[in-house]
Amino acid sequence: MKILTILGARPQFIKAGSVSREIAKHKEIKEIIVHTGQHYDANMSDIFFKEMQIPKPEYFLGIGGKSHGAMTGQMIEKIEEVALEVKPDWIMVYGDTNSTLAGAIVASKLHIKLAHVEAGLRSFNMKMPEEINRILTDRVSNILFCPTDIAVQNLKNEGFENFTCKIVKSGDVMQDGAIFYKNLAVKPVCDIKDDFILCTIHRAENTDDETRLKSIFEALSEIAKERQIILPLHPRTKKIVEDLKLNTQNLTLLDPVGYLEMVWLIDNCSLVMTDSGGVQKEAYFFEKPCITLRDETEWLELVECGVNTLAGADKEKIVEAYKSNLKFKIIYPQKLDLYGSCASEKIIIELLSYE
Ligand code: UD1
Ligand code: UDP
Repeated sequence: MKILTILGARPQFIKAGSVSREIAKHKEIKEIIVHTGQHYDANMSDIFFKEMQIPKPEYFLGIGGKSHGAMTGQMIEKIEEVALEVKPDWIMVYGDTNSTLAGAIVASKLHIKLAHVEAGLRSFNMKMPEEINRILTDRVSNILFCPTDIAVQNLKNEGFENFTCKIVKSGDVMQDGAIFYKNLAVKPVCDIKDDFILCTIHRAENTDDETRLKSIFEALSEIAKERQIILPLHPRTKKIVEDLKLNTQNLTLLDPVGYLEMVWLIDNCSLVMTDSGGVQKEAYFFEKPCITLRDETEWLELVECGVNTLAGADKEKIVEAYKSNLKFKIIYPQKLDLYGSCASEKIIIELLSYE
């Protein structure tokens, strides 16, 4: 069986890394990786391939730093060329980025079976590029690997049971990675206080909205008077923060870190503040409370069980959420089995038995 895996952005390297490790156990499967180039800086891309020993991409398309239309369009054109050459049995896509959508469109037009890992997630916010990408990708997928019960239910609500596709609750592949790499975590080289807060901000809904971004940074400045905030900055955020001359004086800014350092930061912090999808879950895997700097989340189960607070981009709400987190000790309901286990293994078993 030949699988053509389409990757492009940081979270996809991490998700696909776990599945690639599983594929490597099967001699009957050949994985061919296409890197679209959506993320291209060494610390947004190469580092993950090195650290996580993800197989080297056979195709590198070099399409990054463009508008959504140009990026997605050029990716479709190039991925189609690769797919026609490789003739895979499956095209495999992850998450909700422009690279995901491009891979999905190529597969569906060439009648190549499409597997979508992290299917069924919804924010119900159609202004988010990710929401558009995931809805369109889900609709043309042959197998939808859902990380959670809510994701399965979302697909059912949208009538997916009436379509010719298979819905599988695989569990979450990011959990496989978090468990595997926990013992390999590396402490970043910088001054780190004991009860530091880890923060990440990169989503367009925050970075591309001056009011929201300013408000978030005002809240961070306020909180940083009491606790160290370590903020590995995504390049798009770094650029906008510099352009807007936002006050970052009392924050510990880092360049984006590799996954092994990120795992160390999550495992050792006292609180996570983020607008990232993946980091919200990782906070839970490492039993850290999370304040989500968005108005909605695809990971509703975390909010429902009380470990994740949705604070949006409102300064007062963010500071209030921080203060509440100091007051209450959160009990982690691991027994609820929110994200399953061995998702990567389940995904490969499903693909091998697909009729
Ligand atoms: C993308 C995904 C988002 C995901 C995120 C993970 C889409 C629509 N968005 O957002 O869902 O959460 O990746 O990190 O696909 N840049 C660099 N170097 C890099 C990568 C990006 O400088 O290695 C800068 C460029 O100026 C680029 C901008 O960041 O134009 C945005 O990059 P892009 O890939 O368009 O979106 P992300 O914000 O990374
Ligand atoms: N991550 C990382 N280094 C960083 C920031 C994030 O390794 O400096 C990891 C993080 O631990 C998670 C993944 O990148 O596994 C999430 O990616 P990101 O936040 O870019 O995207 P999202 O999950 O929001 O799509």
